[in-house]
Amino acid sequence: MRVEIQGARKRFGHVVALRGVDVYIPAGGRVALVGPNGSGKSTLIRTLLGLIDYQGSVLLDGRSPYDDRVELASKLAYVPQVAPALSATVDEVVRLISATRALDPEEIARVAALFELDLALAGAQPFKNLSGGMKQKLLLSAAFAARPRLLVLDEPTASLDVRAREQFFSLCNQLDAEVTVLLCSHRVEELRHLATRVIALEDGRVSFDGPAEQYLQHAAAAVVVAHV
Ligand SMILES: Nc1ncnc2c1ncn2[C@@H]1O[C@H](COP(=O)(O)OP(=O)(O)O)[C@@H](O)[C@H]1O
Ligand SMILES: [Mg+2]
Repeated sequence: MRVEIQGARKRFGHVVALRGVDVYIPAGGRVALVGPNGSGKSTLIRTLLGLIDYQGSVLLDGRSPYDDRVELASKLAYVPQVAPALSATVDEVVRLISATRALDPEEIARVAALFELDLALAGAQPFKNLSGGMKQKLLLSAAFAARPRLLVLDEPTASLDVRAREQFFSLCNQLDAEVTVLLCSHRVEELRHLATRVIALEDGRVSFDGPAEQYLQHAAAAVVVAHV
């Protein structure tokens, strides 16, 4: 899925979260979105997903995520950094996701098994009682099972153990070439594994947009300078 953002601005009261962001990502782009806390990453993601109103132009394959949300929804998958505290059981959550996304629940269970999460075993538990890692595995399983054209991941591996993290990298690498992946991450190893391009935000503006290699070299140089 192609992402075209031109002059995106967002204001919350007198806080300006996005001050005119331009981003073009061709279909199949693998992009890491980085930047300090409060720089606008989550706002940009929510804008892209059509979850909030904004000024400027945002188009996904030529359509507005805000105005054409219903048509686009089945093509997008999003895993938030913090899973919602749902009282529903794991079975109910899986059934709800399957129904809204027209998915076979078995497909979610199949991906979950790759993450060593047994949904048959966990099914009767309230979702909110799962460990952070288990919640993350379940939401990632649903996201991959949905076969989205745009996959948006906010700190996707923060609570995953080493094996699950490797499984996650492998699933990302098996995605179809035209699937666009946007991940918010501060983990250098994630950038190396998954992103070919880095977009850095600072105070609501793009401060770097270029090859991941170049960004990592800059970051390494900045660390050296900081320690002199
Ligand atoms: N719903 C909101 N209401 C008020 N201010 C918000 C809201 N969401 C974000 N902000 C503000 O917008 C700025 C950017 O936030 P955010 O996009 O969450 O940054 P990041 O994800 O990079 O940490 C911050 O100053 C934040 O406090
Ligand atoms: Mg955020």
